[in-house]
Amino acid sequence: MGAPPVAAKIGDAELHYDGRVFKLPVVEGTEHERALDISRLRDQTGLVTLDYGYKNTGSCQSEITYLDGEQGVLRYRGYPVEELAEKSRFVEVAYLLVHGRLPRKEEQQKFSDLLTRHSMIHEDMTQFFKNYPEHSHPMAILSAMVVSLSSFYPEMSQDNVDEELTHIDITTTRLLSKLRTVAAFSYKKSIGEPFVYPRHDLKYCANFLNMMFSSPVRPYEVNPVLERALNVLLILHADHEQNCSTSAVRAVGSAKVNLYAAVTAGICALWGPLHGGANQEVIEMLEEIQKMGGDVKKVIERAKDKKDPFRLYGFGHRVYKNYDPRARIIKKTCMEVLNELKIKDPLLDIAMELEECVQTDPYFVERKLYPNVDFYSGIIYRAMGIPVSMFTVMFAIGRLPGWIAQWKESQEDPDFKIQRPRQIYTGPTVRHYVPLEERG
Ligand code: ACO
Repeated sequence: MGAPPVAAKIGDAELHYDGRVFKLPVVEGTEHERALDISRLRDQTGLVTLDYGYKNTGSCQSEITYLDGEQGVLRYRGYPVEELAEKSRFVEVAYLLVHGRLPRKEEQQKFSDLLTRHSMIHEDMTQFFKNYPEHSHPMAILSAMVVSLSSFYPEMSQDNVDEELTHIDITTTRLLSKLRTVAAFSYKKSIGEPFVYPRHDLKYCANFLNMMFSSPVRPYEVNPVLERALNVLLILHADHEQNCSTSAVRAVGSAKVNLYAAVTAGICALWGPLHGGANQEVIEMLEEIQKMGGDVKKVIERAKDKKDPFRLYGFGHRVYKNYDPRARIIKKTCMEVLNELKIKDPLLDIAMELEECVQTDPYFVERKLYPNVDFYSGIIYRAMGIPVSMFTVMFAIGRLPGWIAQWKESQEDPDFKIQRPRQIYTGPTVRHYVPLEERG
């Protein structure tokens, strides 16, 4: 895959400013999304744009993921996410995102073999885990370990980032495979159990479940329903165009750091409760509601109270103004997993009641706030036995192929630029230093 094709220019818009008329090109993407190209605005007019949170700013052209938040559409490289979740496996989707097309049989085999071959982490790195304090958050360990990989795999240095692009197969498989091992090891560390090493005979998701749940005294057999559910969850998280963590990967990558450092930035951004950390917050919120006797109305009132910073976690999205298509699939998978395991989780009943109340409440209806990807995923992870503190780590494993694909695309873009936004300064105008003794 090369750089994304350039969006077609379809005309000009006119800006009337300061008694003059300026022409600004209007460009259109393959799904007919239109944008005003303001790249020469400052040169032409002296103006910059002001757009808090980049709500209305396209930061790049990309051919990886298409998202229509009004219609609830999500496609990876053109394939609807619903089809991929139903028919594909996570490893195949990872290949699709990074390479731009589905693998042929022998490519899939080679990719799986590479994932198996690179699944171990350098034995010296296991020492790091041992020195973390008990109850360290697994996201702290994950981010530190990923950036540390750059010291153990020196070809990923700052000096040869362009050469990295030629080693993308190795880089991708190394990271995809090792992140899963690091994640499982950080869990084992948190519960004080010995690490379980990856097995060559198990596929990607089964291998992860085995590293998490088997132990020398407790044999573990992977349940195929859970393995399938994990594949579905990881596929649904695999990319989501220019979200907060992906933008962090692109921004940090634009300084030409190595891929491990750029991905670490993504992991740190994902940790936040307004982004991937919301899956942990959702379960904690549902548990809180359960403790308060199951009254969902109280939290809804709190979320609506403008004086209270509390938000209803798992609801709302910057881009979706319709039901998040991923949330629909996750809700269905959640029911299947609970049925298979014959679990009756009271948190699911609370979640469904909360969703029902929210859907008829004018505050949420007017603001088009629907459940997002984080709302039901935690209930599945709980049923699998994954602890709450690991939920965002699971999200990171899923999002990794997207981060890599977006990093690769940005590095190969002929219009590559270091990311460096402007600002409107609102501080004091020039003033002069007064010595301490004269300041009173
Ligand atoms: N609970 C209560 N009110 C909400 C919520 C919510 N979860 N989400 C948005 N709103 C309200 C806002 O208060 C605002 O109201 P106003 O217009 O009266 O001021 C309006 O809806 C628009 O919200 P913004 O914050 O402007 O929307 P933005 O696009 O900036 O934020 C975000 C999106 C961060 C996801 C927000 O909806 C939120 O905080 N949700 C809860 C956290 C969460 O679930 N995050 C995970 C998102 S999915 C992901 O990142 C993987």
